[in-house]
Amino acid sequence: MSAELRVGIVVGSKSDLPVMRLCGEVLDGYGVGWEIGVMSAHRAGDVVRAYGLAAKARGLRVLVAGAGAAAHLPGVLASITPLPVIGVPLAATPLAGFDSLLSIAQMPPGIPVATVAVGEMGARNAGHLAAEILAVADPEVERAILAQRARMRESVELPAGFSA
Ligand code: RP5
Repeated sequence: MSAELRVGIVVGSKSDLPVMRLCGEVLDGYGVGWEIGVMSAHRAGDVVRAYGLAAKARGLRVLVAGAGAAAHLPGVLASITPLPVIGVPLAATPLAGFDSLLSIAQMPPGIPVATVAVGEMGARNAGHLAAEILAVADPEVERAILAQRARMRESVELPAGFSA
């Protein structure tokens, strides 16, 4: 049985899909159900509005929006739904993501977008952050996060003569 749908990932262009699928891979590791769709805020604003309005009733609890260039998709989505929106700036222009980073992070007060790092790192962290938001009300996801953190600690190598 597939995991219950909880996270909606949207991107502004098909070209954003390879990077943003990394977010879904992270969610898979936590047993969190997700979907992904392509909907540009400037080429298909009506679709973005319909998706945002329907999101909560469809069972979604966190939205992740990845976009490059002017990158208004996360902010537009956040304006439509009260669900938390995580924005992933993507490198799609000669400005290498600095443009989208500022567009996504610099939301005026009242309509926040939780902004993560540019590109692959951000796409992965959006998955971790979405899981953490869900874990507030889902002990199974919390357990999966704690297990993952315990695995990360296995990389520690202490210098001889030091114990922690
Ligand atoms: C943004 O413009 C998209 O999110 C994408 O990162 C960038 C380029 O889109 P395409 O012109 O490749 O469709 O809206």
